[in-house]
Amino acid sequence: MSNTPDKSLVTSTDSFPINGTDHLEFYVGNAKQSAMYYQAALGFELVAYAGPETGVRDRVSYVLQQNKIRIVLTSSLMPGTEIARHVADHGDGVKVLALWVDDAVKAYETALSRGAESAFAPRTLKDDEGEVVMAAIKTYGETIHTLVERKNYTGVFMPGYQPRQSVYPVKSVGLKYVDHCVGNVELGTMNQWVKFYQDVMGFKLLITFDDKDISTEYTALMSKVVSNGNGYIKFPINEPAKGLKKSQIEEYLDFYRGAGVQHIAVATDNILETVSQMRANGVDFLYVPETYYEDVLERVGEIEEKLEDLKALNILIDRDEDGYLLQIFTKPIQDRPTVFFEIIQRRGAKSFGKGNFKALFEAIEREQALRGTL
Ligand code: FE2
Repeated sequence: MSNTPDKSLVTSTDSFPINGTDHLEFYVGNAKQSAMYYQAALGFELVAYAGPETGVRDRVSYVLQQNKIRIVLTSSLMPGTEIARHVADHGDGVKVLALWVDDAVKAYETALSRGAESAFAPRTLKDDEGEVVMAAIKTYGETIHTLVERKNYTGVFMPGYQPRQSVYPVKSVGLKYVDHCVGNVELGTMNQWVKFYQDVMGFKLLITFDDKDISTEYTALMSKVVSNGNGYIKFPINEPAKGLKKSQIEEYLDFYRGAGVQHIAVATDNILETVSQMRANGVDFLYVPETYYEDVLERVGEIEEKLEDLKALNILIDRDEDGYLLQIFTKPIQDRPTVFFEIIQRRGAKSFGKGNFKALFEAIEREQALRGTL
């Protein structure tokens, strides 16, 4: 009589399966020198290269890896290319947040049928190691999500690249995987992008922060976090909110000249060692005053690390109902005050450090004041 399906037969399945982050590609002004920073300062190994020597005429790309984190640094070899124009407009920045999928064509077609805009149609790249299928869709600003299918590929990265090894004696700093990638979008567009991830990729809204959660005397922002079916992909999206002075998000949007990736959080299982090594390698971190440590334990309760060790490295602590986390933020990693890294160690906590927002934003405001952009 009724066509209603038997509910017991309906199982919940991920409508847009993603295995994890495949890689992040930065378009940069000088990939050769950037690659040295990733090796010497951040502890990444050079694993592959593409350029004139491998038959690519218009660009060079260096592929760097540390555990599960893969970064591609690409520069144009001539003016007038899409890469050269991107770097002229945005400075060094993230062009591609690549997602690892089992079926790139299906993922791409699903995304398009749900309203995504194509960045490029499916293509299959082949070499002696097998094949990689990829396609891409557009997200905020000029950023794209490449969907990468590599189940029939055994090579080091993908066809078109040759294996390379660091000449520099790289020492890993213990970075393990990408924990989350944050986007800054224009005023009034955060909800549109949250809806994009919900509609197109079936992401769930995890958390909302409004300007009451995230404000200092001067600057404010709003943020929502979306996550995919298996929880491996987490994309917080920020938009500026009205404050007495210029929001750090507005400063980003001004310098990046539009929406884009603000920070990439990478996980370690020993933040004390990771940050000591990074500091010894010359990486600059945001500074939070010593007064932060006076009452932090009252807020977060007992932790395994010694407070003085965390204080010596200026590492921040926060707690939620699942546990606690340790985190620290680098200063911007290029000349424009745009993209930076977060180093995070989770000890149970699944959140993003809300308890540190005030201290952090005051730290960012001090930097903005020095730049004359507050
Ligand atoms: Fe973060």
